[in-house]
Amino acid sequence: MSLIPVLAIDGPSGVGKGTVARIMAQKLGWHLLDSGAIYRAFALAVDARNIDVTDESALVEVANNLDLAFKTETDSELVSVYLDGQDVSKVLRTEQTGEMASKIASIGVVRAALLKRQQAFAKAPGLVADGRDMGTVVFADAPFKVFLTASAQERANRRLKQLQNQGSEGIISQILADVVARDERDSSRKHSPLKPAKDALIIDTTELSIDEVITQVSELIKA
Ligand code: DC
Repeated sequence: MSLIPVLAIDGPSGVGKGTVARIMAQKLGWHLLDSGAIYRAFALAVDARNIDVTDESALVEVANNLDLAFKTETDSELVSVYLDGQDVSKVLRTEQTGEMASKIASIGVVRAALLKRQQAFAKAPGLVADGRDMGTVVFADAPFKVFLTASAQERANRRLKQLQNQGSEGIISQILADVVARDERDSSRKHSPLKPAKDALIIDTTELSIDEVITQVSELIKA
């Protein structure tokens, strides 16, 4: 049992895990793990090296040597992600990278190879970890586990708003189809599928504001 307290936040794509995790980490003064960013960066590294995704030993080699760094920008709360020394923050967040990450994340040897790198984020005074299998696998003994859900339509709406805030466009029907397809893949895979841990607090955020979600998560920690 780890002595470092971990708050595991899992849930499907577009549910707002990243925002909730970032705010909770700030509130608690804990470290933050965006495990999806690790899978996304890994997918980019595999793509850049033109590796065949059926070549498991090559995938493990890339995972073991992934040159990845997270840097919090001093003038903002944003975290930039560097892969092989290059800032990949923008391409990392595209739907195309998310799709590649979701596909490659279904491979068991990839998940095993990236496990320790994720667990190494657990440092004093604590960690807020966001992903799909934080509460079920990576930090299965975490004292605090939350599983966020929301209707697919609501998650697609949120994703569209996020794109518009970034000055990009999106077609709601396409976003909805992408959200549904990614969740289906993440939930039905054999290795570490997306599902709530038995001891997770499940919060349906469809009708909730971020503040309301933060209040519920904070209450869990206080309790
Ligand atoms: O959270 P995200 O959208 O950045 O994650 C991108 C993909 O990475 C997601 O569709 C599935 C995979 N992933 C995973 O399998 N396990 C995690 N803990 C985090 C992400």
